[in-house]
Amino acid sequence: MGSSWFDDSMSPSSPVTVTVTGAGGQIGYALLFRIASGAMLGPEIPIRLQLLEIPTGQKAAEGTALELQDCAFPTLDSIAVTTDAAAGFNGTNIALLVGARPRGPGMERGDLLQANGAIFGPQGAAINDYAADDVKVLVVGNPANTNALIASAHAPDVPASRFTAMTRLDHNRALAQLAATLNVPVYSISNVTIWGNHSAAQVPDISHGLLRQPDGNKIPLVQALAQKLGGTASVEQWLEEVFIPRVAKRGAEIIEVRGSSSAASAAAAAVDHIHDWVGGTADSWTSAAIVSEGSYDIDPGLISSFPVRSTGSGWQIEQDLELSTGVRARIDTSLRELREERDLVRSLGLIS
Ligand code: NAD
Ligand code: LMR
Repeated sequence: MGSSWFDDSMSPSSPVTVTVTGAGGQIGYALLFRIASGAMLGPEIPIRLQLLEIPTGQKAAEGTALELQDCAFPTLDSIAVTTDAAAGFNGTNIALLVGARPRGPGMERGDLLQANGAIFGPQGAAINDYAADDVKVLVVGNPANTNALIASAHAPDVPASRFTAMTRLDHNRALAQLAATLNVPVYSISNVTIWGNHSAAQVPDISHGLLRQPDGNKIPLVQALAQKLGGTASVEQWLEEVFIPRVAKRGAEIIEVRGSSSAASAAAAAVDHIHDWVGGTADSWTSAAIVSEGSYDIDPGLISSFPVRSTGSGWQIEQDLELSTGVRARIDTSLRELREERDLVRSLGLIS
């Protein structure tokens, strides 16, 4: 299945090579069909899929590859399954790093970071050596921000701005909670931000959010919520007691109710992240964890979630947003956690 099924006369554009690690897992099963169907890069772009697994996940990935073939997606150019990182990242334009070591019983955060360092260090090095010059990387596997930091540290020839981590799921969760509370369509809400780490210490921030009304006018989300909830004090209370904990702990809620980590919603968010990075954001910013250059006093080099827009060539941080004292304090808490993770992986020798 490794060679191209397209011939030049059938293929409207050159194929894009997409590598997915952890392809035999739960997210992989939800993600691959959407990528192959054109949902991520559009219906005109042939996709070459390279699925990277470890030996225990190889059969599952091969089974998924058979099913992908059976879908007869017009956009699917070829599929290869491998356990060799050099082959998996060879010529890749887009790398989705999903495969990660889950936290096991009795495992401390340091154990988890060490186990994942052993995955993301070598994968970063393989991306450095074998990926295409324009490679874009999205880390989904947790702890996503710090795994992205480790991978980037092992890829000195790839600009750090190409290594990103996923907070789009948190962003989408925030939009959905707001839409449900206000009883409005999700697409009418814009300019919501997730700051910081993809963890319970993340910072969902609606202070610059807007709601587009049926007549086309936009009003501040806080104003719409005050009308709905009965005043500004009620909005503050709702944000503190309901909205922020709900969004920040939604991953844990899914694990408790579903019995395993979010998979289809994580896959949808990964598709959204790459879609907007490559295709550009529409009239709202979105959220993505990208390397900090010091904006909003976030330590340069940390991979933190920011409000971002893309014109198709790269993410740009939305600058000069005013932060309330409460949001600033929460960002500082999230930052402390990111610094602790960075310092821990540094002390383990996983980054210098
Ligand atoms: P899963 O256990 O179902 O699948 C993980 C797969 O990764 C397995 O098939 C495993 O064999 C493979 N794998 C492990 N090490 C690998 C390596 N070195 N190279 C290639 N493949 C490897 O897990 P899942 O539900 O698919 O979740 C994957 C990761 O995504 C987890 O870390 C999870 O916590 C994380 N996650 C992140 C977000 C987010 O918003 N950032 C959301 C949901 C889940
Ligand atoms: C999520 O946000 O759903 C996941 O990151 C949760 C997890 O720990 O896998």
